[in-house]
Amino acid sequence: MNASSVVKEHLDDEQFRILNEIAAISAAFGTNCYLVGGAVRDVLKGQSSGDLDTMVEHRCSEIAYAVAEKLGGTVLKVTRFGTAALDIGAIQIDISTARRETYEKSGALPKVFPGTIDQDLARRDFTINAMAISLSRDSFGDLIDHHDGMSDLENGVVRVLHNQSFQDDATRILRAIRFAGREGYQLDEYTERLIRRDVRYLETVSGERIRHEIERIFLEPTSSAMLQVANDLKVLQAIHPALGFDQSIVPPITCDLDDLNLIFYGLITRQVSPEDVEPITTRLMLDSVRAAFVNDIVSIRAIVPSLRLSKFNSETYYLLEGLQPLALGAYATFTDDAEAVKRIRLYLDELRCVRPSITGESLLAEGVPEGPWIGQLLKSLLAARLDGDISSYEEEVEFVRRTLWGGS
Ligand code: CTP
Repeated sequence: MNASSVVKEHLDDEQFRILNEIAAISAAFGTNCYLVGGAVRDVLKGQSSGDLDTMVEHRCSEIAYAVAEKLGGTVLKVTRFGTAALDIGAIQIDISTARRETYEKSGALPKVFPGTIDQDLARRDFTINAMAISLSRDSFGDLIDHHDGMSDLENGVVRVLHNQSFQDDATRILRAIRFAGREGYQLDEYTERLIRRDVRYLETVSGERIRHEIERIFLEPTSSAMLQVANDLKVLQAIHPALGFDQSIVPPITCDLDDLNLIFYGLITRQVSPEDVEPITTRLMLDSVRAAFVNDIVSIRAIVPSLRLSKFNSETYYLLEGLQPLALGAYATFTDDAEAVKRIRLYLDELRCVRPSITGESLLAEGVPEGPWIGQLLKSLLAARLDGDISSYEEEVEFVRRTLWGGS
């Protein structure tokens, strides 16, 4: 099959121009050049593609620098494994050297050796990702597909190349769920059986790699459905037994990507006990922002029984004070506890903004001596305002006078 027309049709003019330049420069360095990976899958499926991955047979870094010079781009990174990342305008391109890999131990990074294009495609995760399109002038558009990727693509099937695939690299389990959860795709039955068989191999993978793949799921438009599959196939539980997900409680979420990431961490840790927080944040190597968010979600859940019993606004305030508004808002959207939601909403919409007009400085200026009683006084003043016992500046002054001097 020749795919030149779909490449032209589904990549934009700038991507197409850059690929042709890379191929011409590669030819000058004596190597063929191929489009590989996700971009091949996407254009053959009739979709556009963002990041482009290309492959050459040798001299990858020299080619990368020559391309950057010719097209006014920047080489972001060159690795000793023969890969280079380039930024050309707004377009990110990877150039890698064809390689073969051997996995000596499950979960460990593979040993990498120079290889042929066929060997490189054979080391990949799924048949739909294991195709290449030649970019070289005399064979432009020729499709290399030794693993029936095209027919799987037509049927929208995500299928591993061999039955040891998940044992070699268990991050592929999360990747399988992500690709299969996209519109127009599904998980091949045998591949699903392999996931069930090999899910425990996730134990062999570093927290960093799991976190990276799980966060890629969080950012997909159909992330909830993907996480439900991850839950049902016991994939989340293989990462940590206390993790879980229930799609039915997730409303449509609209927020920026950083918050989205946090909210999904909240959703998968919703049922976690306080003693599981530390093992989970350590397992996933979460940074302090993510860890604090998970901690807050779990704390809110622990606070809810007291929250439901709180009779005064000041009690609600002091129970929820210090917890992140984003965590509170997220918890309120995914709990069905109406009383807790009411209290959290009241706190978020009103109580947390309440401030008495009298401040520590104004008390000192009025001659109240410095000391711990100032903090206590301000706290009772705030409580009185929150509970509606006082509502004006004059009443605050009267409250302070009464508290300090017994109403004289
Ligand atoms: N790949 C792989 N095994 C992995 C990671 C990546 O075989 N564990 C290969 C696949 O061929 C994949 C390519 O590397 O297509 C690029 O990987 P990546 O950028 O992670 O995914 P894309 O396929 O480009 O998917 P997308 O950008 O749409 O998420």
